[in-house]
Amino acid sequence: MFKLRRRQEEVRMDKIPHHIAIIMDGNGRWAKKRMKPRVLGHKAGMDALQDVTISASKLGVRVLTVYAFSTENWSRPKEEVKFIMHLPVEFFDKYVPELHKNNVRIQVIGEHNRLPKETLDALERAKELTKHNSGLVLNFALNYGGRAEITNAVKLIAQEVLDARLNPGDITEDIISDYLMTNNLPYLYRDPDLIIRTSGEIRLSNFLPWQSAYSELYFTKTLWPDFGSEDLHQAIIEYNRRQRRFGGI
Ligand code: FPP
Repeated sequence: MFKLRRRQEEVRMDKIPHHIAIIMDGNGRWAKKRMKPRVLGHKAGMDALQDVTISASKLGVRVLTVYAFSTENWSRPKEEVKFIMHLPVEFFDKYVPELHKNNVRIQVIGEHNRLPKETLDALERAKELTKHNSGLVLNFALNYGGRAEITNAVKLIAQEVLDARLNPGDITEDIISDYLMTNNLPYLYRDPDLIIRTSGEIRLSNFLPWQSAYSELYFTKTLWPDFGSEDLHQAIIEYNRRQRRFGGI
């Protein structure tokens, strides 16, 4: 007797999404399942992020944008917010050296006026250290909210019009995109090709509302700290199966 083994599907290296964005959800539930404090879930989430970043970089992904803290997350218990704000400091010491070796460049989007100084300093150091790296861009969305981002872009564009530097009739989608926070990314890769959300929630929660207009969406029940390179491969395999038509036929 012999078994017919299904050939395992593999990632198509010629169809790797250039920009992947991830809503890293489920850290709290992961910790609760293990009767641990929620913050340990965030710590485990940071390990998962490191693994996924290195895997994505090996696959040739150009940009990985991760939702690390939303403008709504301030309503969490003070101690938890404090802990999350300290993560970039730990991240810099423990994780950035390996990322730097892998040619990863760190970038940040979000409104940073409310972030503690030590958080900002750690991010600045990571950006500075990796600024000449030409590999994957790891783009942290920290204190990020999509509607606030669009509102801010509208204000800036309105000011350009008031100052007679721009005609309302000349405003294009490309111009709007230039005023969004993702203008820190390489021009061709500003919009995510694939958005992943973990932990079974099926919504985008104010994450990249403009940029996600044509993104493929992938939802998985896996909690973020359990998400690893194998799960990333599965998400890309699913992406490979989709036909992206951008409104065409
Ligand atoms: C959502 O899970 C996760 C967060 C709000 C924080 C995510 C942060 C990290 C994974 C670490 C990022 C690293 C740096 C360097 C900033 P949740 O707490 O909402 O989980 P729950 O829905 O199960 O409660």
